[in-house]
Amino acid sequence: MKPIAITTTLMACSLSMQLHAEGIDDLINHYASQAKSETSFFAGFDSNRGKDLYLKEFVGGKKDTPSCTSCHTNNPTQLGETRAGKSIEPMAVSVNPKRYQTLEKAEKWFRRNCKSVLGRECTSTEKGDFLTFMKNS
Ligand code: HEC
Repeated sequence: MKPIAITTTLMACSLSMQLHAEGIDDLINHYASQAKSETSFFAGFDSNRGKDLYLKEFVGGKKDTPSCTSCHTNNPTQLGETRAGKSIEPMAVSVNPKRYQTLEKAEKWFRRNCKSVLGRECTSTEKGDFLTFMKNS
């Protein structure tokens, strides 16, 4: 294939992936294919690792948000709260099936929240682990 054809094919693939990401399984599949292309040792997502990420207190981010639980509480089936006191719907799919519907929303909040908590963006593996934990919660 000529480079231009390869580029066009890649663009079409990533576009169709965005359009088809309409639920947690699509998001998990999206992050799995990203993780596979980023690491040669990707061996699937792990709900327990996702739980650890969710509960862990980090030191690299903002002082008032050391953990995902700072806003989402340490029980993902409960209502959370922003720093300003605004309520956040639960993160667990079992009690809130409206979660994780679009890649756009997931990416926006992963970017923002991982930066606040970890002081960096989350990797595709971390995002997939987190979603796998939420799917099981
Ligand atoms: C400063 C408060 C705060 C912290 C800390 C926080 N979040 Fe959030 N999160 C929010 C808010 C606000 C929303 C958007 C409102 C909503 O979707 O109910 C959100 C939404 C999300 C979403 C989008 C869910 C969807 O339905 O698509 C994801 C994913 C997410 N957060 C992951 C995380 C992860 C991972 C961490 C820890 C690394 C984290 N959040 C820490 C406040 C926070």
